[in-house]
Amino acid sequence: MSSLIHTQSARETQEFGGQFAATLKRGDVVGFYGEIGVGKTTVIQSIVHHLIGRPKTGITSPTFNYLNIYENEAMSLQICHFDLYRLESKETFLEKGFGDYLHDNETICLIEWACIIAPLLPKNTLHVRMEHDIQCTAQRKDNETNRTIRCGQ
Ligand SMILES: Nc1ncnc2c1ncn2[C@@H]1O[C@H](COP(=O)(O)OP(=O)(O)OP(=O)(O)O)[C@@H](O)[C@H]1O
Ligand SMILES: [Mg+2]
Repeated sequence: MSSLIHTQSARETQEFGGQFAATLKRGDVVGFYGEIGVGKTTVIQSIVHHLIGRPKTGITSPTFNYLNIYENEAMSLQICHFDLYRLESKETFLEKGFGDYLHDNETICLIEWACIIAPLLPKNTLHVRMEHDIQCTAQRKDNETNRTIRCGQ
């Protein structure tokens, strides 16, 4: 199943994140794609907030250490938030011991810049592709900006 979503503000993108979170289950791997500042972390903050209950402000991108782990002990659920923008190669991902998380049935993996480890992603990986909707934004008279989000397998 795949879907196409248009959002007209960061808040609407967060709402998408909440709805998407409700569809996720343990063991899922989700790759996020799109240029710098398109809103990948914004969606992930919302997912972690909905599934773990942590305030969005406490969820930041692991830009330098590649991985943040969030846990809901009561639900025995773990979320791995990867930001691979600075990762050299898929070999480095494996050297750091991250590979096992992709096949852990208790873990949901949310991976920014997943293209860097494309060959390592499980077959049933979900993909969330985000784009700036420049034409729509240009026609607006407020300061909000639009995004197009495609998600599916
Ligand atoms: N419609 C929108 N959807 C998502 N974010 C939006 C939207 N409009 C404005 N924004 C703003 O754009 C920024 C998106 O930043 P965010 O860190 O989520 O992007 P990113 O894709 O994770 O970037 P990076 O590649 O650097 O990790 C936020 O400041 C957010 O408030
Ligand atoms: Mg980010």
